[in-house]
Amino acid sequence: MTSQETTQIPEDTLEQSLRPKRITDFSGQPVIKRNLSILIQASKNRNEPVDHVLFYGPPGLGKTTLAAVIASEMGVNIRMTSGPAIERSGDLAAVLTSLEENDILFIDEIHRLNKTVEETLYPAMEDYALDIVVGKGPAARTLRLDLPKFTLIGATTRIGAIASPLRDRFGAVYRLQFYDESDLKNIIMRSAKILHVSITKEAAQELAQRSRKTPRIANRLLRRVRDFAEIENKGVIDETILHKALDILEVDSLGLDHQDRQYLKTIIEKFNGGPVGIDTIATTMADDATSIEEVAEPFLLQLGFVKRTKQGRVATKKAFEYLGVKAKSSQKSLF
Ligand SMILES: Nc1ncnc2c1ncn2[C@@H]1O[C@H](COP(=O)(O)OP(=O)(O)OP(=O)(O)O)[C@@H](O)[C@H]1O
Ligand SMILES: [Mg+2]
Repeated sequence: MTSQETTQIPEDTLEQSLRPKRITDFSGQPVIKRNLSILIQASKNRNEPVDHVLFYGPPGLGKTTLAAVIASEMGVNIRMTSGPAIERSGDLAAVLTSLEENDILFIDEIHRLNKTVEETLYPAMEDYALDIVVGKGPAARTLRLDLPKFTLIGATTRIGAIASPLRDRFGAVYRLQFYDESDLKNIIMRSAKILHVSITKEAAQELAQRSRKTPRIANRLLRRVRDFAEIENKGVIDETILHKALDILEVDSLGLDHQDRQYLKTIIEKFNGGPVGIDTIATTMADDATSIEEVAEPFLLQLGFVKRTKQGRVATKKAFEYLGVKAKSSQKSLF
């Protein structure tokens, strides 16, 4: 175990404890919740596993949480694994054969499954069967092994990277949306209760505005601000302590952090507002293109600060205004 993993354990444990277990504790995503409730109730009535479900959307919006919510609402076991962890078909076969009837198999980062494993998954999803090749050359035969009826729940931040044969085998595909402020406020108030910290309504509202519409960030900021409150304000989070903490954490009034600002500055100051390719931006920032694409960009796109064009990323008028940079007329034609 690396030292980085060691230091992450308490955060992970805390994230676990803040995770809602039931659908009624899960704030936001009304459309998905309505659909899931019906799916769950109908499956229960028929005593069948839930249809295979695929969740996609930016990190921290609740994909893993929803998978666990489905399991607890169904009263079944959930096995959690991830695309990169299943290296060979044999690894997948081992997991599948260990499932009990109606259990859930959760595969995170499902877009990272390799082709062979993915193909093993097809008959498993469709017919609850595993095709195993025994022997080699002309003597090779395929044996079909029956599996318990199970539910596959996949999650991905990159729906575009999923092959359509795989995508088509999911009975339900849901895109998680960014959260509005009132849902985030509810999440913050709920988490504060679990963490035994008191937060004023005004502070919760403001924290909600600065959380990039993302529950994971709301919870993470809440924990950081709690540290400040415990040391400087008898454990109470009010607006004064919130401002002080967020200033130190370099989170601005829109919730943008250091990486977001660097990204916008790179496009605007180094590349004249774009268009510029993501790899060039990443190299200039000495950062990783995938992380920028999956973590920073979805929210900046949502805010309307950046546009994705065929020629590359373009900063919008809003982004220029945000950074206090006056756009030249040549740049205005890009907006
Ligand atoms: N609707 C919600 N209500 C309350 N808390 C939530 C909600 N959605 C997410 N959370 C909280 O945010 C955290 C992150 O959610 P989760 O791990 O499910 O996101 P994810 O979409 O799986 O992210 P990733 O793509 O990084 O795997 C959870 O620990 C949970 O505490
Ligand atoms: Mg997850």
